[in-house]
Amino acid sequence: MIKVGVLTLSDSGAAGERKDESGPVIEKAVQEIDGQVDYYQVLPDNKKMIIDELHKMAVDLKLHLILTTGGTGLAPTDVTPDATKEVIEKEVPGIPETMRAESLKKTRKAMLSRAVAGVKGESLIINLPGSPKAVQECLEVILEVIPHAVELLQ
Ligand code: MTE
Repeated sequence: MIKVGVLTLSDSGAAGERKDESGPVIEKAVQEIDGQVDYYQVLPDNKKMIIDELHKMAVDLKLHLILTTGGTGLAPTDVTPDATKEVIEKEVPGIPETMRAESLKKTRKAMLSRAVAGVKGESLIINLPGSPKAVQECLEVILEVIPHAVELLQ
């Protein structure tokens, strides 16, 4: 069983003005790799809050896999990759490289995601874009390697 944490970044989601549709997509997709969402949080696009939350999810909650959704683009509020880079100890560039390469076959806009992935302690943190469609497309291409990655970290 892979312990999964989901962190949704959305100003409107955190204010309760918008329903998170990407979190449930993640929850369903990870079942394919025997993953279970043990922790779920929605936060605004605030870099300090994201850093603190990722730290808690990795160090205190010791989740095996932390998937963020949203805030990877170019808007002034998009700070998820910047916060993630401050938390991770090792970057795993192959994961976002693969997501972008495969996603480019579907939309040229995929090149606009600044998503990063990396390791903090025994947790693998991966940024996903915000839309449910993008989340589905990105997870499709990386899920199969996750169990091996998680195994390497334990
Ligand atoms: N990746 C896939 N697979 N499918 C998509 O529809 N949308 C792109 C990109 N990555 C997309 C995608 C778009 S339009 C943007 S702006 C960036 O992800 C960043 O999205 P975010 O700001 O919601 O994180």
